[in-house]
Amino acid sequence: MTEQDNELRAGTGSGQGGDPGSPRVRLRDREAELRSVEAAVDKLCREFAAGGTEIGGLLAFSGRPGIGKTSLLHEVRRIARLRDGAAVLFARGSERQYKEPYHVLRQLLQPALTRLEPDEFRQVMGTWEEVVGPAMGLKQPRAGARRLDPQGVRDGLDYVITQLAPRRAPLVMIVDDLHWGDHESLSWLTQFAVRSRELPVLLVFAFREDEHDWPNDTQQHRGHVLALATRKHELNRLSLTSVTDMIRAELGDKAEDAFCYEFWNVVNGNPFEAVALLDQVRDQELEPVEENSQQLRELAVDATGMTLKGWLDRLGAATLRFAWACAMLGTDIRIDLATRISTQSAEGARESIKQLRKQRVLTQTPNGNLEFVHPLIGSSIYNTMPEATRTGMHGVAAAEIENAGLGLLAASRHLVETFSGEGDDRTVRKLRRAAAEHLLIGAPEAAQRCLHRALNEPPADDIRAEVLYELGCSALLTDPLATVNQLKLALDPEEGPLRPDLRVDATFRLSEVLAHSGELRQAALVCQEEAEQTADPGDRMRLQAASFMWHAFRRAEEDGPGRSARLAELCQGLTGREAADRAVLAMRAWDLTLRGAPSAEALAHADDVLDGGRLPKGLGWTDSTWGFELPSMLGLTYTYNDRIAQAERLFADAIIQFEVAGWSGAHRGFAYFLMGLARFRRGMLAEAEDFLRRALRLSERIGPKLPLAWDAVGVLVDTLLARGRVDEAWELATTFGFQPPYHDTAMVLPDAPSLYGKLLVAKRRYAGAAATLTEAGAQLEARGWHNTVWAPWAGHLAIAIAADEPERAREYAQKSVRDARAFGTASAIGTALRLQAQIEDGQQAVELLEESVAHLGQSPAGYEHAVALVDLGAALRRVGRLEDAQEYLYQGIELAQHCSAEGLVDQARRELANYGLRPNRLGDFRETLSQPEWDVAKLAVRGVPPQRIADELGVHLSLVNRRLAAVYRKAGSGPDGLASALGLAGRSREATRPGGEVAEGEE
Ligand SMILES: Nc1ncnc2c1ncn2[C@@H]1O[C@H](COP(=O)(O)OP(=O)(O)OP(=O)(O)O)[C@@H](O)[C@H]1O
Ligand SMILES: [Mg+2]
Repeated sequence: MTEQDNELRAGTGSGQGGDPGSPRVRLRDREAELRSVEAAVDKLCREFAAGGTEIGGLLAFSGRPGIGKTSLLHEVRRIARLRDGAAVLFARGSERQYKEPYHVLRQLLQPALTRLEPDEFRQVMGTWEEVVGPAMGLKQPRAGARRLDPQGVRDGLDYVITQLAPRRAPLVMIVDDLHWGDHESLSWLTQFAVRSRELPVLLVFAFREDEHDWPNDTQQHRGHVLALATRKHELNRLSLTSVTDMIRAELGDKAEDAFCYEFWNVVNGNPFEAVALLDQVRDQELEPVEENSQQLRELAVDATGMTLKGWLDRLGAATLRFAWACAMLGTDIRIDLATRISTQSAEGARESIKQLRKQRVLTQTPNGNLEFVHPLIGSSIYNTMPEATRTGMHGVAAAEIENAGLGLLAASRHLVETFSGEGDDRTVRKLRRAAAEHLLIGAPEAAQRCLHRALNEPPADDIRAEVLYELGCSALLTDPLATVNQLKLALDPEEGPLRPDLRVDATFRLSEVLAHSGELRQAALVCQEEAEQTADPGDRMRLQAASFMWHAFRRAEEDGPGRSARLAELCQGLTGREAADRAVLAMRAWDLTLRGAPSAEALAHADDVLDGGRLPKGLGWTDSTWGFELPSMLGLTYTYNDRIAQAERLFADAIIQFEVAGWSGAHRGFAYFLMGLARFRRGMLAEAEDFLRRALRLSERIGPKLPLAWDAVGVLVDTLLARGRVDEAWELATTFGFQPPYHDTAMVLPDAPSLYGKLLVAKRRYAGAAATLTEAGAQLEARGWHNTVWAPWAGHLAIAIAADEPERAREYAQKSVRDARAFGTASAIGTALRLQAQIEDGQQAVELLEESVAHLGQSPAGYEHAVALVDLGAALRRVGRLEDAQEYLYQGIELAQHCSAEGLVDQARRELANYGLRPNRLGDFRETLSQPEWDVAKLAVRGVPPQRIADELGVHLSLVNRRLAAVYRKAGSGPDGLASALGLAGRSREATRPGGEVAEGEE
């Protein structure tokens, strides 16, 4: 493989000191850095070949402008390219292009991705093609695509690199001028740097040390990079010896020591300045002798600190204008564009280029474009532009870029720099369109820049509010605070009129953001007030429904029963086919569930909402009219009404749809939470814990103390309690402040105070539990919410006060059973009975638990069933029915193991062991063989070979083998001992299956 083949380089320019086409500079004083690079690349290749896990790393080079970072990176690329098998990706930031979303990442990844064969490309992209493709400029967003969540793009990129790395590994990813990297690329690079250690990827970054060189919106990344680097090098100035060498290499040995010393002092060992000053000395034919050293300082100012006058003198007006056009374009400068922007003729442009090359300002790249010899020169030229010229030329640049067919995305960087205050409708339109395009590639910040600029244009009075609305919506997924402010402004009549349909939408969005930041009351009020002023019946309905919804999610509410009655009324006139009607029905279903009304009613409404078991059009997880709350309520209704499988189907859809839409933040976290809750209700505790922890991690990544974290922690506490990890549950609750005062969001949690009370009971803090649960109960009763599964306060309160106030305890326990029976699900009744049994004794407890077990045995609530079985076993033991006790305890253990309820397993084993019973069932394993397993076992015992068994039974050989393997595993024996293990008489005799059924062929 040649050096060139190895480098998967973007088609963007080159020519700067660090590019393959440019002559190699002899690097001085960089031995330590180069050794570090060699070592890192060595390690990368070695560990990769050895299949290690700590493979990658991050090398960071920083230093002042011109100190030699780019030159060093050039060496890094050379070293890496020479390694067989290593692939090198390269990109660099640009001072003029840091506002172009994904500018750096597109350079870095496009070449590697476009080289993949179509099949490989699909594998590498996985389900992320619609997310990563548009962001990387590899394809247009799908027609009708939605805004992308930037976090989704980053997750997609993680996936893509994880897929790409092993195919091209090891990868050396080099980014120069990281300080000018665009915000979107930097966000991913710093996130990815954390993970890169486990991948065969070496990251090498170079950036200016001084934070002033980092544009405001990228400054935070500097700290991240420095913190993450496995090795950091700040480049030092060159030594006197090195600079003297450089001078003598250029001017000959006649250069006197004193001259060289002064030269070194003047340039302060900075190689860029040294090279520039050497050029001046040569141009001015200054003799390098001691007497002339006084003139060096003046020459140095000319060499590096160029003013407008300096450049004008050197280049002339026309050529300088061409240089300005180039400076605006940044890197990889197209000659035709620069020509048109500088309004020169082709002939004039040719002349300018010739001049600029001669003056060592520009150089031509291998692809025929132009490049500044050094970015410092580009900056110097750009900075000499008078303001009016600059803004004017940016306007021309925007137009020319669009005319050249490069699209609004590329043009918009210039549009935002143009004059404002002209009130040009066309500019406003373009900026709004550019904003919309930015949202489709997951760059909301860039969209906001466009919309802010549009507001400054300013737009016509009648669309001003609309632009504000768009501005508010652009930050929906990333910046809740900004969204709230901007949407409030959009709705403010003083800002001008807003189209009625947009008013409704703006109100809904505003309420959504308020709700997601925990301001549920505010959210409900906003919708209510707007509904009162909305004429269109459909729109009014939407807002009323939203207001209901937010109220329903609140922990405390002034008029719960009233709202519920109004909701019931609203439901009566509904035809049920429109999305809005179904939305109201879904809300009613959830409201009924919380009220503990007969389960069948809630389920009937819920089934009316679905279309053949699926979410109807307009109410999908990513539909924007209603938001994800609606389908959530539906799924929750199924979860709490014992139709968990249906709920899980909906939640699994949510996870997939959020992923495909690239909504990787709170949305995906919430879907994990819901799935965790469903798994918990079903008794799949280990899986529940896993989903809930994922939800919690995502929430933490977005920000501290979000309602999502609260929800996840709540159910996680419940899950840990179920797994018998009480102290861990307590610690988690304490760490996350899951205790009074409660969040105003009740969202979907099992009622938080009930849960907290339950935790206190588990910690045997009965007094605190009693107070908490009494208060919770009073509130819920006033509100008319009697669901004993969602808010199991009464049952736990009974336990908390049983010792001190047995009579009151009994009343609460009975009330809970009454409420559960009114609700009517098997899991609710079974659990309420079990809790009641906990405060009873003797035969009464046994009877309650027998009924509880009978109910739970018909519910999907596996863990609840296991607890009841164990409790029943214990109660039976207490009344002396040891044999029955043993049977239930064994059943309880089996189910508890299945649920990963380790605490419960231990508890049941202790119960058995304490009373001299065997802690494990030495059951007859033959009971565990299925009929098909028996069928193959009987034949195998007779010595029939597998293929013949397959033929005889008419099934596939692989299936026979699988069944045989299961038989051997269960029997704890191979073919030889199978007959005796099965109690069969080997080769000729067969036996009876336990249970008395006569096996075929018995004598
Ligand atoms: N170690 C070195 N020995 C000799 N010359 C060097 C050395 N490092 C850099 N140079 C010369 O100095 C000039 C500036 O170097 P370079 O462009 O690498 O600086 P830089 O740190 O990347 O600057 P910037 O911060 O502007 O990107 C180059 O033209 C190169 O020829
Ligand atoms: Mg550089």
